[in-house]
Amino acid sequence: MFKNVIVRIPSKHVSDGITSANEGKPIYEKALVQHENYVSALTKAGVDVTVLKPEDEFPDSCFVEDVALCTKKCAIITRPGASSRREEAALPDMIKTLHHFYTHVEQIKEPGTIEAGDIMMVGDHFYIGLSARTNQEGANQMISILEKYGLSGETVPLKEVLHLKTGLAYLENNNLLVAGEFKNDPRFADFNKVEIDPDEAYGANCIWVNDYVLVPEGYPKVQKKIEALGYKVLIVDTSEFRKIDGGLSCLSLRF
Ligand code: GLY
Repeated sequence: MFKNVIVRIPSKHVSDGITSANEGKPIYEKALVQHENYVSALTKAGVDVTVLKPEDEFPDSCFVEDVALCTKKCAIITRPGASSRREEAALPDMIKTLHHFYTHVEQIKEPGTIEAGDIMMVGDHFYIGLSARTNQEGANQMISILEKYGLSGETVPLKEVLHLKTGLAYLENNNLLVAGEFKNDPRFADFNKVEIDPDEAYGANCIWVNDYVLVPEGYPKVQKKIEALGYKVLIVDTSEFRKIDGGLSCLSLRF
């Protein structure tokens, strides 16, 4: 069960976020409304949501998932691989909030880079994508820290997607949404794999929050497959975040 979630209100310059999507620029006012609806859905799922103030000079700073890994034993502040995002991990209100919730707060150091959008938690084990944002050194440091707390990790080289959780979502109870390059990955052979069709690949980025699964609006096949597993679904429109390669998981830290 998750008790807490941390989010950050989108920057007024959210339209300048890093993107490969070619879907136009996010509309700030619409992003704010979608973010409020996201917080409402999380609240409905029974978690306490800590809402951090906007940091206007960082267009991608609403994607708080990338700047820390929150485990049940410790929090680990990351070192984002995107240079324009690196200082997001040092924002004082985020550090203070992590220290409020955790006795143990660790940190990834140079030359390691890692963004926690590349990390998928499955119980006490953490899959870490090696991507354009997360390097081997960052993954090694992360695994050493996890092991110090009795947790474990392994790496997963990425070929196409931005972050590991762009194409994978663990919904607990051994249920794993898989899209694209992960469908035939032997690392995930023992999961109950729910394959996501290429035309709904973005919809693979769902999040499990207690008895609920948050699903992005506009992915009916994904929604049906998740409902068929017995989960209660909450639909959240993320169209503005999609324009800058963001999704449901990137928008929060859940622990
Ligand atoms: N725009 C989200 C990211 O690229 O990190």
